[in-house]
Amino acid sequence: MEKKRRIVVTSALPYANGDIHIGHLVEYVQTDFWTRFQKMRGHDCVYVCADDTHGTPVMIRAQKEGKTPEAVIEAAHAAHSRDFAEFEIGFDNYYTTNSPENKAFSEAIFAAMEKSGSVTVRSAPQLYCEKCGMFLPDRYVKGACPKCGAPGQYGDNCDKCGATYAAEELGDPRCTVCGSAPALRDAEHLYFELEPSRGLLLKWLPEHTSSGIANKLMEWFGEPLRAWCISRSAPYFGFEIPGHPGKFFYVWVDAPIGYLASLKNWCGKHDEDFDAWWQNPDAERYHFIGKDIVRFHCLLWPAMLETAGMKLPDGVFVHGFLTVNGEKMSKTKGTFINARTYLDHLPAWALRYYYACKLGPGIEDLDLNLDDFVQRVNADLVGKITNLASRGAQMLNKHLDGRLCKMDAEGAALAAAAAARADAIAAVYEARRFSQVPAEVARIADAANQYFDSKEPWKTVKDPARREETRAVLTSILNVFRKIAIYLKPVLPSYAEKAAALFGEKDWTWDDAAKTVEEGAIGKYEYLASRITQEQVAAMVAAAAEKPADSGEVAHESRASKNKAERRAAENAQAADVPPVKPEIRFVDFEKPDLRVAEVVACEEVPKSQKLLKFTLDCGPLGTRTVFSGIRAAYPDPAALCGKQVLFVANLPPRKMSVGVSEGMILFAGTPGKDGGVLSPSSPAAPGTPAL
Ligand code: MSP
Ligand code: ZN
Repeated sequence: MEKKRRIVVTSALPYANGDIHIGHLVEYVQTDFWTRFQKMRGHDCVYVCADDTHGTPVMIRAQKEGKTPEAVIEAAHAAHSRDFAEFEIGFDNYYTTNSPENKAFSEAIFAAMEKSGSVTVRSAPQLYCEKCGMFLPDRYVKGACPKCGAPGQYGDNCDKCGATYAAEELGDPRCTVCGSAPALRDAEHLYFELEPSRGLLLKWLPEHTSSGIANKLMEWFGEPLRAWCISRSAPYFGFEIPGHPGKFFYVWVDAPIGYLASLKNWCGKHDEDFDAWWQNPDAERYHFIGKDIVRFHCLLWPAMLETAGMKLPDGVFVHGFLTVNGEKMSKTKGTFINARTYLDHLPAWALRYYYACKLGPGIEDLDLNLDDFVQRVNADLVGKITNLASRGAQMLNKHLDGRLCKMDAEGAALAAAAAARADAIAAVYEARRFSQVPAEVARIADAANQYFDSKEPWKTVKDPARREETRAVLTSILNVFRKIAIYLKPVLPSYAEKAAALFGEKDWTWDDAAKTVEEGAIGKYEYLASRITQEQVAAMVAAAAEKPADSGEVAHESRASKNKAERRAAENAQAADVPPVKPEIRFVDFEKPDLRVAEVVACEEVPKSQKLLKFTLDCGPLGTRTVFSGIRAAYPDPAALCGKQVLFVANLPPRKMSVGVSEGMILFAGTPGKDGGVLSPSSPAAPGTPAL
């Protein structure tokens, strides 16, 4: 018996300023495979994560949307939680970095860092806007690139030549908020001195990351390790640094601390002791991260933890980036696919299965080839594996009362061979060589399919003399399938749960694969998985291509478009009181609303509603329609609208409201209450006339 382990696992905290996309899912899905596997093995494993909420992008976005940063991160938390739940990511806790626990940990760790003497204060000139009265964060300044001279570049790097630099180096810098020229002013900042941690890091790195990562990081050690600026000047959405008014923790300080905060929050909910998990030498701590954030997790984070006297992670598991059809995800090609867009067209289990086919422990990029995706899911998971269950169970239920018997000798040998793979497959999961799992189970399924085909149970079942023989074949097939489903459970949790229900079981653990089910009855066959189509994929790609540039890309697409998106956001922020212009649409989108003229026959207040007015519209050939509009406050005398001609959207589906069914929407603009509120044709038109 393996000793019971106690394991804390994290995935990187996704930024709150963007949507979850299929690139992120590479990480959350593999972490989920691993944690579900550990739990099936009977270990105490807790998987925590959170939204990464602080920093400039959320501030800019809040300003642009006329919301508070808190409202922005709350909406993101809800959206992220929904996406993750539908992809069956089984977090034990999904928290936020904007939490009391995180504030307390950040302050405590910082205090310990300060006490150890590794925090220094340095003064450096920084751009300050007199008019706005603030030091300008990098993304609040634009000017000419110091390297190539391209105008209109942000204060951190150049879109044109890719150079990175400090905002102070820009030519002719401008404040993006007010457009005036900022001046240099000395600003004090806090730095975390890394050089004192050199010894620790040189020892820790090779033992806790892959050799590739460790070797790469060693390049930094050729010269003194550079101190890291850990403060930002107000305005900043984050935690103010105790003892340093007007200074905030840089987002990358409190983001990894967010792992501890989420764990602490989980402990609170489950009456567990934080130290028994994080500080316990017998516990294990692992971070799953992408290759872009190695420096934070393998240099700064261990140094911070060590300085604060806390336990260091036992492993940082680094993965590569997702490509789609061999290329970087692209908005124009429709391959920058949000989790939600995917779910609108395809089932979550299909992507989980495909990622399992492609994932290994290394940092190589992983390709989602969309043709291969359809083909692999259909041929292997549906054709080879699920068919065993659907054909076997349905035949047994239809012709043989759903009752199992003993397996025949050949079947029993197949089942035994499948059971014998348990340790090897467990080792594959443990080592995160996930791609070997589908390969292993496909081999088991191939043998079972050969057996099935050679026995021809669909023929023998019709021969009354051969019923029991057929029952033994189906019993064997279902037993082999059952083991496969157990092996796949970390990858396909809800699939496995439904498969377990077929055998009257639940909560399969790894050891359940050793058992056989004979003699009893099976349940009704519930849908497990069916073929996916090229059409679904094409529709998803089309939808992703149509998707307006949204904030998801602000955080994640290429550096260039990231800057463009942020520039747009910053430009919009300049006119915060005017709602931002919506992203471009195509002409086909514009043509979709069927705008028609109607005449108001009656307009009255709706009892019990503070907001609604009930309109009766004469729509000519479209008949009479009832429309409810939430504009009562603007029209104290609704009857005055009678006889007016209005424009309305005729092709919205009827919407059931508590007060009745609304059959369209009326267009309003301008000053409500005045005639300008409701949009009318400038000269009378016959009701039902399309608007041009
Ligand atoms: N907020 C930081 C992490 C803080 S952890 C203390 C961040 N957020 S992120 O939303 O940009 O990325 C979250 C994780 O998803 C990262 O590990 C990142 O590497 C991973 N991925 C983001 N895009 C990805 C792909 N296209 N492909 C694979 N992983 C990707 O970084
Ligand atoms: Zn300004």
